[in-house]
Amino acid sequence: MSRAPVIAIDGPSASGKGTVAARVAQALGFHYLDSGALYRVTAFAAQDSGLPLTDEPALARLAEGLDIRFDGVEVYLHGQPVGEAIRSEEVGRAASRIAALPRLRLALLGRQRAFRQPPGLVTDGRDMGSTVFPEASLKVFLTASAEERAQRRYKQLIEKGLPANVTALLQDLRERDARDAARSTAPLRQMADARLLDTSHLTIDRAVEQVLAWYRATVSGSAAA
Ligand code: DC
Repeated sequence: MSRAPVIAIDGPSASGKGTVAARVAQALGFHYLDSGALYRVTAFAAQDSGLPLTDEPALARLAEGLDIRFDGVEVYLHGQPVGEAIRSEEVGRAASRIAALPRLRLALLGRQRAFRQPPGLVTDGRDMGSTVFPEASLKVFLTASAEERAQRRYKQLIEKGLPANVTALLQDLRERDARDAARSTAPLRQMADARLLDTSHLTIDRAVEQVLAWYRATVSGSAAA
């Protein structure tokens, strides 16, 4: 088994964990896995082929057979770039629904663990520290208030020239948080051994610095032990 270190960053939608995780990976020269993209690509492929989002066995089979490749920030499904298409609110909602299905989660497990390669992996999602990499060197629970997250998402959509309504976004985020936290398999929750990082009043730079400082302390702590 690979001994490459893992930094697991979990948290709710639009908390900024993806940006922070990617920047931490870049700073350390580690690989990066956006696990939410796997759920999003699966939801996108299911919608594309007209599969009902409740058909658990068919969705699990679909997830196992998908040819998904990451190249920097771009995601390819069967060789086609799907980066923008999987970021829509609609696909996010569908991803959150299928993510509640245990067999679908199991189908994506091995795929996620395969990203653990030297010199190390930084990954973000909902259950990276609890289920996928329970032995991670550092676990961070990165969050921000729902209002702050809705504002951030609103700004992102407006910058992309897409329509956005902050009240609807806030309601959507709350519903998705509730669904991600209430499901019985691998729910969104802070692990007892995860460090809490609330970014409501933090810049991305400060959040990245904090994660790097925790990681360096972990590495020097284990070297001294
Ligand atoms: O992080 P994100 O918003 O791109 O994730 C989309 C959905 O996928 C999210 O609502 C819940 C699900 N997800 C999950 O259940 N477990 C993960 N490790 C990552 C995402």
